[in-house]
Amino acid sequence: MWGSISNPARDIATAALPDKVVAAAAVAPDATSPQPPVDLVPHVPSNYPHFTPFVENVDQYKAMYQRSIEDPDGFWADIASEFHWHKKWDEKHTSWNFDVRNGPIHVEWFKGGLTNIAYNCLDRHVAAGRGDQPCFLWEGNEPKDSAVMTYSQVLGEVCRMANYLRSIGVGKGDAVSIYMPMVCELPIAMLACARIGAVHSVVFGGFSAEALAGRIADCKAKVLITSSGVMRGSKKIDLKAIADKAVEMAELNDEHLVSTVVVQEVKHAVTREHTHFVQGRDVWWEDALRGQPTEAEVEWVEADHPLFLLYTSGSTGKPKGVVHCTGGYMVYTFTTTKYVFNMAPGDVYWCTADCGWITGHSYLTYGPLLVGASQVVFEGVPTYPAADRCWQVVDKYKVKQFYTAPTAIRSLMRAGELYVKEHNRDSLRILGSVGEPINPEAWRWYHDVVGDGRCPIVDTWWQTETGGHMITPLPNTWQQKPGSATLPFFGVVPVIVDDKANELQGEAEGMLCIKQAWPSTLRTVYGDHDRYETNYFKPFPGYYFSGDGARRDKDGYFWITGRVDDVINVSGHRIGTAEVESALVAHPKCAEAAVVGFEHAIKGQGIYAFVTLMEGESYTEDLRRELIASVRSHIGAFAAPDAIHWAPGLPKTRSGKIMRRVLRKIASKEEDQLGDISTLADPSVVQQLVDLRGK
Ligand code: PRX
Repeated sequence: MWGSISNPARDIATAALPDKVVAAAAVAPDATSPQPPVDLVPHVPSNYPHFTPFVENVDQYKAMYQRSIEDPDGFWADIASEFHWHKKWDEKHTSWNFDVRNGPIHVEWFKGGLTNIAYNCLDRHVAAGRGDQPCFLWEGNEPKDSAVMTYSQVLGEVCRMANYLRSIGVGKGDAVSIYMPMVCELPIAMLACARIGAVHSVVFGGFSAEALAGRIADCKAKVLITSSGVMRGSKKIDLKAIADKAVEMAELNDEHLVSTVVVQEVKHAVTREHTHFVQGRDVWWEDALRGQPTEAEVEWVEADHPLFLLYTSGSTGKPKGVVHCTGGYMVYTFTTTKYVFNMAPGDVYWCTADCGWITGHSYLTYGPLLVGASQVVFEGVPTYPAADRCWQVVDKYKVKQFYTAPTAIRSLMRAGELYVKEHNRDSLRILGSVGEPINPEAWRWYHDVVGDGRCPIVDTWWQTETGGHMITPLPNTWQQKPGSATLPFFGVVPVIVDDKANELQGEAEGMLCIKQAWPSTLRTVYGDHDRYETNYFKPFPGYYFSGDGARRDKDGYFWITGRVDDVINVSGHRIGTAEVESALVAHPKCAEAAVVGFEHAIKGQGIYAFVTLMEGESYTEDLRRELIASVRSHIGAFAAPDAIHWAPGLPKTRSGKIMRRVLRKIASKEEDQLGDISTLADPSVVQQLVDLRGK
């Protein structure tokens, strides 16, 4: 299901690090306890005089930060008090072990407390008189399609869906898979699961049937909620047909799976008449909800009850189901949304991410609703029908905070400034960036052209695993540096370590780890706690290892240097090289494949695949296309390689390990900087590969 390559040598703890670790180890280790990086930050006066930040200056931040790490119980309890708890947490509510040498890794927040995140996202605001405020401002793929749903309306729909799910036997702890485009029904389905204590597993609508099948089978979903189809730009995608295939594939491997498929009709893409429907298993969303009351009992769950799982790629072949739990995730996504976006109830906010990724979970479905914002839910793409779509939407809804990925910024930058200037954008106050390092050129364009120099940029570093922002500027609280995510958020203790897990002090470069638990720490990998410990806690004992490299400058600012494992970040999408390799070798003519990332002007990183064919096969354009198609069908179109490089042999050490460092250099045409290749079993393969470039 997940692909067949399983190469233990890829484990982060062993093989994947050395190339970059070596460079990092050159900085002398210092074992003394780290000083909070804020001590190094000079206080720089405000650059945006009209803008009043919630955290006024570095001194206020420093005081709050110190308390957050020294007294996490008290700091986070104060914030948690803003929410409704059916039962309050215990006085000492946190506990964690981050050190594998001291026993199993475990993390607890708000121990003893009972709450419900959907209640806090919706009922709480309706009870406070904000029921008529817009909750979702839906903007379709076509500019003519839009709709508004108030907080009361969303609550009503969530309750109806919750009642329906209950009526078919879904309850606390059951997994529900969701595979939908960006329509309001997607966050509504997520919130309905949360209301009844079911665990949602959203799968991005761009994943293939096989990828969806693997995710359905892994969590043993009882229900799949999907849509008839989706328009992505001018392209129509028949989502239900993919979902059908996925259910079939999943069931071949497991017997107790999906009993019901709920299908939401996206009329402008694929109508009912054109949707394949399995009688007895499928039900239309509308029919499912018909007659269901708009009120539904709340399932009060323990703070550490799982809220969702979200699959993400790592160094090994099989994606991991990252588990986040209710209480800590709720308090942390609320706090980051509030402070990082300086967001108040009623603000109009727009995050362009899809709910299929963590950004859409934390900063679309949950964080902004916890704050009480009105937010744009955008079905389309930033360049359709033209490259001014974002700014047209910003003006239409008077968006105050806008959050997107560097890849989108770069592609809009390439389209030219005129598209931006056609629109007024004077409602904008904050511009956010997420998903990959933002290059200073894109940062400046975002700041100077999109924001007219009026809006602070928040370059937020975080991950699926962290649940919320970890290193990020607070807008207008301290000086920005283009390309730096700057300083840690409250409760986050980032450290830079060398390859021997020594913490490096002051200016340093190495592996980015986190030293103590924060409220939205991932709690486990679904069904595989060993893998959780092995991936995240064993590489550097005593710490959570992020998989990223980072540099800390003299002011204590963090600069993320990118992944140090075999994960590629393509347009902000995280793709494991092993997954792509596995999809390539699934083709009968492919004997071996090695995938590396290379610098790509728009996507940040592109996918470069070296492919060795079976004996007797020849290099043809048709085969190249078939190989790319294989990746599309095993993973999804977004993981299709940008380049296939024919490889009669791969550069391997005498023990058979592929030297990816050499492949990366060849992919980026830097073979003059290969360094020492004397340890290769057959150094002549390097020249063969260079000769085959572009063939
Ligand atoms: O390499 C880092 C990069 O994205 C990875 C996490 O990917 P994912 O779990 O899919 O979550 C993406 C959305 C949070 C990280 O390990 N990354 C994310 N944000 C940044 C970043 N790299 C540099 N700067 C960022 N702001």
